[in-house]
Amino acid sequence: MQDSDRFRKCTLSALAAGLALTLLAFAMTPAPATAQEGADSADTLPTYVLPPSGPFSPERVEIPNMRAISAWIRSGHSDASSEAFSHWNDDGEIPARCATCHAGAGFRDFHGLDGTAPGSIDGTIPAGGVVDCATCHDPGLGAVTQITLPSGVEHPVTSAEAACVTCHQGRAAGQTITDAIADKPLDTPDAELGAITPHYAIAAASSLGSYGGLGFHYPDKSYSGRFLHAKPVDSCLSCHNPHSLEVAQDTCLTCHQTGLPADIRISRVSYDGSGDLAKGISADIEANSRLLMDTILDYASQVAGLAAVYDAHSRPYFFADANGDGLADQKEGRPVVYPNWTPRMVQAVYNYKVVTSDKAIFVHNPHYALELLHDSIEDLLTAMGRDVTQTGIQR
Ligand code: HEC
Ligand code: HEC
Ligand code: HEC
Ligand code: HEC
Ligand code: HEC
Repeated sequence: MQDSDRFRKCTLSALAAGLALTLLAFAMTPAPATAQEGADSADTLPTYVLPPSGPFSPERVEIPNMRAISAWIRSGHSDASSEAFSHWNDDGEIPARCATCHAGAGFRDFHGLDGTAPGSIDGTIPAGGVVDCATCHDPGLGAVTQITLPSGVEHPVTSAEAACVTCHQGRAAGQTITDAIADKPLDTPDAELGAITPHYAIAAASSLGSYGGLGFHYPDKSYSGRFLHAKPVDSCLSCHNPHSLEVAQDTCLTCHQTGLPADIRISRVSYDGSGDLAKGISADIEANSRLLMDTILDYASQVAGLAAVYDAHSRPYFFADANGDGLADQKEGRPVVYPNWTPRMVQAVYNYKVVTSDKAIFVHNPHYALELLHDSIEDLLTAMGRDVTQTGIQR
């Protein structure tokens, strides 16, 4: 979609809703009558910052407010046309179990900021909302001091991070996998099983590592906990601008040789076994993710008894490939969903999805990601009578 197009859509729908709330949230601080300063896009925006009354002396002109708006309008949080916000447009409303993270109104309802009971969605949440200003700027958010993660862990949060952690925690945990497979034999296909995925953009959960319980942890292995990184970069907002969501490269240059996140490396271990220590740690995680997927597909044909193909863009992601031609089998014009899931495959696929559903896990928790990948590969190889040391990968 063209930028201008996207901008127009936001201006019409999200902006109208979001900025009405801005007015509420910021009504106490008079804003400029005309808002030219501080934002190159100001002239294309409607005059939404009219204050209810003066004074209009220059020192009261709220330039930061204007900057916040023009940064936010370019971020994913305001993009009403994205799949994350437009998915329910034809239905008119967002189901309760989805609304907390997919509209500001749902978020406020879930936390009880709209006067309803906290911890559940009580009202009807209309489709079309975005992460509007009042999502993070509701004064009641200060009372939210902990967030219950999908693992059941109650994680203490500061008011600044409560919002981020609510929406970026994903929808599943290692325990979800343990519950689903119960005591089923690990290598026997079971028609009740299928792919379990953690949902999208799960940085708040991945950064907490084993403590947050996001990944499937193999028995007898230990896993890295929260990635504390280094003191000034240990919280969402120490790296992300809360409005543009961008991460300034300068933030990294204090300590790293490059500001390009994907090129940063400190580890002297070649986790992917390539021996290349010049590339970023992200490249090791990518290589081991690819190896895990190859190993999952080998396991499907060799142990689960039916070849599979993986399509990252089409749920439920795995399809049958009985003739092994690398293409999904078709039945009545539709791809055949993979039927031969075993518990071992569910575990490994879930961990693959954990690592690849946070596109910046190499920053948020690189070691946890590498451990989950290593152990999943090792477990599948062992079931095929092979040894992980032959791959050269390191934990
Ligand atoms: C109400 C739920 C919600 C809250 C609160 C929230 N996010 Fe998001 N965030 C989303 C959704 C949904 C997307 C995907 C948006 C899209 O695809 O357009 C997203 C996207 C992002 C992205 C991807 C970059 C982009 O421009 O799309 C980053 C980074 C991000 N959020 C960080 C944060 C941080 C940091 C916080 C806390 C200050 C936060 N989010 C609070 C729901 C939320
Ligand atoms: C804990 C918060 C949370 C809950 C609950 C949640 N989502 Fe999401 N969802 C997100 C975030 C964050 C993203 C943004 C991912 C991105 O695009 O970067 C997202 C993205 C999506 C997308 C867009 C994916 C894409 O391909 O771009 C769809 C569709 C979606 N969610 C559907 C659902 C449905 C259906 C439910 C309820 C059954 C649901 N979500 C519940 C947080 C949540
Ligand atoms: C995802 C959460 C989030 C959303 C959405 C959001 N803000 Fe903020 N905003 C914050 C946080 C957190 C801070 C505090 C930043 C800090 O202390 O460094 C902040 C700070 C501000 C400030 C203080 C000055 C500054 O820029 O640091 C203003 C003004 C502001 N926001 C306005 C807005 C407006 C207007 C909107 C809607 C267009 C908006 N915010 C949307 C999280 C958010
Ligand atoms: C050490 C700095 C740092 C910290 C701390 C950090 N992030 Fe990030 N985050 C990044 C970088 C760098 C990227 C990649 C940005 C890019 O590619 O432009 C990123 C990307 C993201 C994305 C987009 C990736 C995706 O899966 O769509 C989300 C969402 C996100 N961060 C949320 C968070 C949340 C929530 C927190 C707090 C729990 C957090 N981040 C803490 C640096 C950080
Ligand atoms: C105050 C210093 C400091 C700043 C600022 C900093 N880092 Fe780091 N970073 C470190 C340290 C120390 C480690 C090693 C931590 C560990 O492994 O426990 C590290 C590790 C990493 C790693 C993993 C590297 C590897 O090979 O294991 C990545 C990726 C990374 N940082 C990205 C970033 C990004 C992106 C930024 C900027 C948004 C940033 N860092 C800012 C100190 C810093």
